[in-house]
Amino acid sequence: MRWSSAGKLASIPGEGLSRAVGKRCFGVAQRRGPQGDGFWHAGVERFSAAMPTLFLIGALAAEVSAPISLREAAQHSGMLIGTAVRPAQLSEAAYAATLGREFNMLEPEDALKWEVLRPDLKSFDFSQADQIVDFAARHDMKVRGHTLVWHQQNPVWLTAAHYTPEQLAQLLETHIKTVVGHYRGKIFAWDVANEAFDEGKNAGRLRSTLWYDQPGIGFSGQGPAYLAQCFRWAHEADPQALLFYNEAEAEEINPKSDAIYAMVRAFLRDGVPIDGIGFQMHIGNLHANIPSISANIARFTSLGLQVHITEMDVALPVDANGNASSEDLARQADIYRQVAEACLSHPGCTAIQTWGFTDKYSWIGSHSKHTQGAALPFDRNFHSKPAHEALSQVLSKHR
Ligand code: XIL
Repeated sequence: MRWSSAGKLASIPGEGLSRAVGKRCFGVAQRRGPQGDGFWHAGVERFSAAMPTLFLIGALAAEVSAPISLREAAQHSGMLIGTAVRPAQLSEAAYAATLGREFNMLEPEDALKWEVLRPDLKSFDFSQADQIVDFAARHDMKVRGHTLVWHQQNPVWLTAAHYTPEQLAQLLETHIKTVVGHYRGKIFAWDVANEAFDEGKNAGRLRSTLWYDQPGIGFSGQGPAYLAQCFRWAHEADPQALLFYNEAEAEEINPKSDAIYAMVRAFLRDGVPIDGIGFQMHIGNLHANIPSISANIARFTSLGLQVHITEMDVALPVDANGNASSEDLARQADIYRQVAEACLSHPGCTAIQTWGFTDKYSWIGSHSKHTQGAALPFDRNFHSKPAHEALSQVLSKHR
């Protein structure tokens, strides 16, 4: 049994069970070596001539216990599959093993934010982010950078100092050029700016922030001109890096994504160096308007921009022990599947990233006072959930 060609796998209509099992079983045996099912599978192959039934049962068991990793699956679609990473957890064996096995891209969850990088006006502390970038290099993973200009997670020395626009511009230029320069050639894509547009009844307007107009870096009242300046500084520091604008609650067609669309069209017209849009994709209430998400991806990619899904999680109601119902886990899997399918159906949508990968470490738990959680593709014990299987199936498809 040798399913060696990726092309063969792509031509399986409707994921027939025995063929899908063959595909997975082969993948496991080939790549995982003596740990886990590969060892068992190799053993069975020695008996396979005499024991076809045993092989079939074994293959089904492999299907249940070790679905193909997201990273392996993504070799078929050519997608980037990433996750947010916390440096303190890299020394936890199960965390590191799952991260390296399942993902071909990662992004520091907090380690590149001002509050971590900038202990004071003069210094840069790259130690946490460097650990993550080193892990990525050792495991042949790409790194996304997040984020250079944001109204949150800024240090008090910065926000409380009452700098003038000239001083702030100087500070921000130095920050962007130093950080992007430090990771030149190591971070392939940056969320230059994050969440610059307001929400609620102000959705579609620029948010009033330190960088825009409180007091701003010298472009107060001039719309997204201050953002254009940041993209130019980042591009000077690393002309090869892909530069993204990242946003929350702009996944669907709505006033916020309309405003971003208008901004990036103007950027492209004016030669501002922007390469893509990041849609965060934090989904609550088990609701996602997939046709609208797909249409939104279509309009941005048709401008020649890439789209990355950058922070996906699907929060579920959980009981006092933090557990979700099996019905909700299935609905969650469906949402992961449909969002991934929407992305794959547009060639310019090139990456899907989850905001963490294990329910053991997820910002959803900490931000929702434990009434919501279980938002990621692995449970707290690093076991894959139905959402993992859904993603793996979609990523296995060629496009
Ligand atoms: C979150 C992190 O996950 C938390 O660890 C931190 O305490 C707060 O920030 N949108 C973003 C991310 O762009 O940077 C946020 O990350 C989640 C919402």
